[in-house]
Amino acid sequence: MVTTRGEQLYEGKAKILYATENPDQVIQYFKDDATAFNAQKRGTIVDKGVCNNRIASRLFELLEREGVPTHFVKQLSDREMLVKRLEIIPLEVTMRNITAGGMSRMLGIEEGLPLNPPVFEWHYKSDPLADPLINDDHILALKLATPQELETIRRLSAQVNDALKRYFAARGIDLVDFKLEFGRHKGAILLGDEISPDTCRFWEQGTKRKLDKDRFRRDLGDVEAAYQEILKRVLGETA
Ligand code: TMP
Repeated sequence: MVTTRGEQLYEGKAKILYATENPDQVIQYFKDDATAFNAQKRGTIVDKGVCNNRIASRLFELLEREGVPTHFVKQLSDREMLVKRLEIIPLEVTMRNITAGGMSRMLGIEEGLPLNPPVFEWHYKSDPLADPLINDDHILALKLATPQELETIRRLSAQVNDALKRYFAARGIDLVDFKLEFGRHKGAILLGDEISPDTCRFWEQGTKRKLDKDRFRRDLGDVEAAYQEILKRVLGETA
């Protein structure tokens, strides 16, 4: 069946969702738009959409092979990914292997300290509130998800971390931290959204060079080159 773009369902900061002729599937269209600090800073990263679509497609395929159920169906074009339609759970999971960003700010600690065990955080997905940190009790009391769903998401997030840490280490990159979103589809919990330099921190082993959106957030320059470098390493077949 040929999949064609139907009505626009939603436009987010980095992606647009379109309906397809199949009510169970939608198209994620990856834009070059970049925002930071809850959209107070805006810009364009040339060909970011193409890089992120290709990187996320590869990583979803990897995770499916590792037994993590995801919304990924297939890559349709340079900027389009066909995915299963999800009822998004309004939570963002952050997994941290090394201190950086929000955790360093919140606790007043330097960046670059290894975290053992990795740190799992729930954030409430809300732009007006800037995605505040919350705990299981908030989620259960507000009925954002069931206890069983929380357990599933924690287990899958740990599996994602193990798989991605190994995958990027084999490509000379430390996976510092990342953000995941999950949704419901026909009674199952699936990993949604994207996994890319927009949603992860990647540090080159040895040099500690940042190869992710922090180059944009912190005005470090060579932003496009960082996205291209991650794409190159993901496409390079290692281990
Ligand atoms: P943080 O340290 O700013 O909380 O970010 C943790 C990770 O989550 C980092 O890899 C970047 C990613 N992230 C997003 O994907 N979206 C966001 O809105 C934010 C703030 C972070």
